[in-house]
Amino acid sequence: MGTYQIYGGKPLCGEISIHGAKNSVLPILAATLVSGGVYRLHNCPNISDVASALDILRSLGCRMEQRGDTITVDTYPAGSAEISAGLMKKMRAAILFLGALLARFGQARLSHPGGCVLGQRPIDLHLMGLRHLGAQCAEVDGELICRVEKLKGGTFALPFPSVGATENLILAALACEGEMILCNAAREPEIGDLIGFLNTCGAEIRGAGTSVLRIRGGRPLHGGEYTVMPDRMETATYLAAAAATGGSVVLQNALPCHLTAVTEVLRRAGCHIGETKTGMCLQAGPLRAVSPIRTAPYDGFPTDAQAPVMAALAKARGVSIFEEAIFSDRFRHVPALCAMGAKIRAVGAQAIVEGVETLHGAHVTATDLRGGAAMVIAALAAEGESRIDATEHMERGYEAFAENLRACGAQIIIQ
Ligand code: UD1
Repeated sequence: MGTYQIYGGKPLCGEISIHGAKNSVLPILAATLVSGGVYRLHNCPNISDVASALDILRSLGCRMEQRGDTITVDTYPAGSAEISAGLMKKMRAAILFLGALLARFGQARLSHPGGCVLGQRPIDLHLMGLRHLGAQCAEVDGELICRVEKLKGGTFALPFPSVGATENLILAALACEGEMILCNAAREPEIGDLIGFLNTCGAEIRGAGTSVLRIRGGRPLHGGEYTVMPDRMETATYLAAAAATGGSVVLQNALPCHLTAVTEVLRRAGCHIGETKTGMCLQAGPLRAVSPIRTAPYDGFPTDAQAPVMAALAKARGVSIFEEAIFSDRFRHVPALCAMGAKIRAVGAQAIVEGVETLHGAHVTATDLRGGAAMVIAALAAEGESRIDATEHMERGYEAFAENLRACGAQIIIQ
């Protein structure tokens, strides 16, 4: 278990290069399995979730090579359709291999995925869509066994635009007879990136960025080369950290167009945000409360930015109200922020943040990826020393988190 020892109270000032998006590279790695081929992916973040995805591909028989931020995967040798419970437990995105395995082998045997604890995270929508494509899915002794003779196309509407279900259905539909029309699909930019990758490799998918996707089946992928888009959640986290500490950052490679919901909140809170030729920058002002901040599917305010922005607004003048509409238990960072002196009351789906003058250091434990990042942000904005345990949560999604913050003047010791 890792620990960060943080001495807070200093503005975060400097430049950080944003890495490739975790939530793009994971579905793209799963997608490489759909057809045997050699796939070269650039701008892959060096995070433990990527290592877990590579472990899964390796366990299925694939070969790979990692050089800097380039990963080359050869999925020709894949010969198994079974993923062990140990590998599935490591991350939520492991479930994306289900659609890929069905497309490739017509069968899959795996268990429920792990990942951040954010409340109930069922996979019923994934299975509903796969059944619509003709797959038979059964749960036997905690194991999920799916089989299909021939996936068939048709029109299917998701009851809710789930990101993971959209991705799984895209992958499975690549092997369907005819065309699949997926309605009420999620519109997150990472889905656009997955589609960009697949079309580069020979797929025919139309509608990226809209809620209706048309996936032409039966066009095998032929391998290819692709550069993963920048991580908008890593970007949001560093913006929130600079805002919280009264700092000023330049974020190289950041894509402001993916973050308008977050930048609008930070602007209303008093920050100056600009675009540069190669990214974006933020100069913090005295922070004032923003209310309400409601999480929503893209292009609403992202649930992944809720905890980091809450940490930033803990010291804002006035009362901010957050409404979490995506996950049922995503305020697990609140007790830790309160231990640092924040005044936050979380009731049901609402968290009421009464801005305080100062935060103070405390000893806390990261609960999940973004919640842990929020604790780091609060610790940077707090007076005195904090210890944050269980930093492996942050390693799942942030490459060189402590190092990047340190390069901007933060005092962090990794233990
Ligand atoms: C993805 C992201 C995660 C982000 C989330 C919402 C990845 C690897 N993870 O997670 O960082 O926080 O999108 O933007 O890309 N649901 C069901 N049944 C299902 C599927 C989902 O009820 O079959 C519910 C979930 O419990 C949750 C909501 O739908 O309440 C959103 O989940 P979903 O969009 O699927 O998120 P993930 O793909 O898990």
